[in-house]
Amino acid sequence: MQWGDEGKGKIIDLITPHVDTVVRFQGGANAGHTVVIGGEKTILHLIPSGILHDNCLCIIGSGVVVDPEALIKEIDGLSKTGHMKDPALLALSQNAHLVMPYHRVLDGLLEAQLGGGKIGTTGRGIGPTYEDRAARIGVRAGDLADFEIFKSRIEKILPIKNKQIANLGGEPVDMNDLIEKANGWSKRLSKHIVDAERLLYDRIEDGKQVLFEGAQGAMLDIDHGTYPFVTSSNTVAGSACAGSGVGPTAIDGVLGIIKAYTTRVGNGPFPTELHDAMGDHLREKGGEFGATTGRPRRCGWFDAVIAKYTARLSGVSHIAITKLDVLSGLEKIKVCVGYRINGAVTDAVPALTEKFEGIEPVYEEMPGWSEDISAIRRYEDLPDATKSYVKFISDTVGAKISIISVGFERDAHIMIQNPFG
Ligand code: GDP
Ligand code: IMO
Ligand code: MG
Repeated sequence: MQWGDEGKGKIIDLITPHVDTVVRFQGGANAGHTVVIGGEKTILHLIPSGILHDNCLCIIGSGVVVDPEALIKEIDGLSKTGHMKDPALLALSQNAHLVMPYHRVLDGLLEAQLGGGKIGTTGRGIGPTYEDRAARIGVRAGDLADFEIFKSRIEKILPIKNKQIANLGGEPVDMNDLIEKANGWSKRLSKHIVDAERLLYDRIEDGKQVLFEGAQGAMLDIDHGTYPFVTSSNTVAGSACAGSGVGPTAIDGVLGIIKAYTTRVGNGPFPTELHDAMGDHLREKGGEFGATTGRPRRCGWFDAVIAKYTARLSGVSHIAITKLDVLSGLEKIKVCVGYRINGAVTDAVPALTEKFEGIEPVYEEMPGWSEDISAIRRYEDLPDATKSYVKFISDTVGAKISIISVGFERDAHIMIQNPFG
């Protein structure tokens, strides 16, 4: 519900025992979803965060852009830690587009062209891959599974891409080298490449429970986010349907994941950003460093204007509030309840990045709490000030609270209403 890194991985992992299938539907290896179990930290980039449970089918849907190298690395990492027991439990849609080495090169070259106005991408080739998908010069997982098809497509496409690379002053990608590498990817990944849409449909027909796992955050949505400082996919909940081949009537609810304060990594507007010791405190206490790139995250107070906006965009029915423990020990907590622009207060989110510059956040102060809440597992046991803060967030969003997360470990949460209960 913000700019990413809200703690989606943790929440997905803890709900997974109540579902049969977890589906990623957009984004790519720009995502970094962290799950911590008994001190063992796993960061998922492409594989759904349900993979750490036995018997859960994990699907990478057609809306995801998949870097074969990154996927193989992730599979190998999970195999090493004993979390990839049955390869049949990882399915990759044949329609998913592939991130090729030239996409990563172009990502870097485009950023260099933008200079001071650069987006601050993760450098994972996400934008250029979605670009090629829309331009209809992409390569897909299904092509890779049928290597001769892949080869004939890449022979047509690579010369076009190399012209673009050369124009931007970069090193062209060698055809033979790419084909050889791709042959290896094909051998490794073919067993996972299936008609995932049909597989999913059949499971839903069988009455199985399906959880769709979003990546990034609604404020990074290509249409509704802080354009151009966004990612290249639709990140709002509605994207779950198109990115997995399921119709909207199959969806029963939307769980919005929202951090008790706000962070952002990369460039672009961020009205409640703190450039002072409080920002540093949140970064240190919350461990706010990128799970994919290691970059320090920009930190700020909770922004209720953003929360209302993204609740509306995604039709949020329930919320999971994360990282509430990070706010313990603060005497006062500020929340932004409006934007003052040219003297007038509004709760409208500007469409143009430039209009964010004059925004002055309107803050309300709420009492903090001194208690360490990380061991609390029942709502009743939370300090009164914490309950008021949680109620403020839930009232703001206009959705019921499902889960409150009070630490990074799997069990560090208060389950108020299981979304699949
Ligand atoms: P995601 O991209 O939304 O899955 O989030 P990330 O994994 O990038 O970042 C969230 C970070 O916060 C990770 O390091 C998590 O282990 C951690 N985390 C998640 N929930 C909590 C929580 O309730 N409290 C604390 N202290 N850390 C949390
Ligand atoms: P998860 O799923 C936070 C940001 C980048 C950059 C912008 C565009 O872990 O929440 P891109 O590489 O997508 O072209 O970069 O989007 N970004 C994220 N920020 N969490 C993420 O994923 C992100 N994925 C992309 O920092 O500002
Ligand atoms: Mg992340």
